Amino acid sequence: ENIYVGVDLGGTAIKVGICNQEGQLLLTHEGPTETEKGTQVVIDNIEKYVREIVEKSPYEWDQLVGVGAGVAGFTNVVEGIIVLAPNIGFRDVPIRSLLEERIGKPVKIDNDANVAALGEAWSGAGRGIDNCVCYTLGTGVGGGIILNGKIYQGFSGMAGEIGHISVVPDLEAIQCGCGKKGCVETVSSATGIIRMAKDAVERGDRTVLSNVETINAKAVFDAAKAGDEVALRIVNRAAFYLGKSMSAVAAVLNPEVFIVGGGVSYAGDILFNEVREVFAKFTPEPLQRGVSILPAQLGNNAGIVGAAGLHLRS
Ligand code: BGC
Ligand code: NA
Ligand code: ZN
Repeated sequence: ENIYVGVDLGGTAIKVGICNQEGQLLLTHEGPTETEKGTQVVIDNIEKYVREIVEKSPYEWDQLVGVGAGVAGFTNVVEGIIVLAPNIGFRDVPIRSLLEERIGKPVKIDNDANVAALGEAWSGAGRGIDNCVCYTLGTGVGGGIILNGKIYQGFSGMAGEIGHISVVPDLEAIQCGCGKKGCVETVSSATGIIRMAKDAVERGDRTVLSNVETINAKAVFDAAKAGDEVALRIVNRAAFYLGKSMSAVAAVLNPEVFIVGGGVSYAGDILFNEVREVFAKFTPEPLQRGVSILPAQLGNNAGIVGAAGLHLRS
């Protein structure tokens, strides 16, 4: 039996998993990224966790066909380079060749949200669907486009950076990590939600949210569910720009399904209902017909599965 290892390279943890060729996740393993120790150590760590997971599995190294990695940032998949990954501290790192040298197996890389989209399309919420767009709402807002069953890469491998569509009107827009203003990511990510909540508390708005040190996205969603008006306004704002961006994406790509994953998606109905309403409000009726907005199914493992799938499905 052939196996594939998928790697999810994030700012704090590196998660790895073994998949078979049907997209079944057989085993997972993880360890710290240690970003603060520099590029070399991060590469060492990836190699180490890949070797460890195969060792502790019932499989032999010879059965490993290839390694795929999803990276949170702008990736040039054609050349195997991480162009810019602020959360990992990488700029222009030729990660594919560095890993191939050490591991001695073919390596493919792609953006974290692209591989999550591939994972969902392969064995999650998008199973059997040829055209879907996947959002991941976490520290950032990621996007992955699956067209005719494959990741759509664009001219230089950076298609699907949906989080950086600028949607917020200029007067209200704030600076994004990408260097520009008003991106979806500034309002619809966990980071954006937390920032809006802190601003509200500091302004003195009447809300059950209080301790600015400990506010997280879940606290905001819980407060909104309990009827807190300020929290509800924040959730609706996050949903509004998300829904508006989907409307734009629908006009360009006409996907059958929008899949929404990442930590923020655990908010559930309070978020999804509003996103669906906004999408319905701004999207021409023919472009809405038959289109659904669904939560992701693979949770945190979508990236690992899709990364492993890079060798089979791209
Ligand atoms: C990055 C994307 C990434 C997303 C989620 C964004 O800020 O630009 O490349 O997919 O965060 O990690
Ligand atoms: Na992407
Ligand atoms: Zn941006």
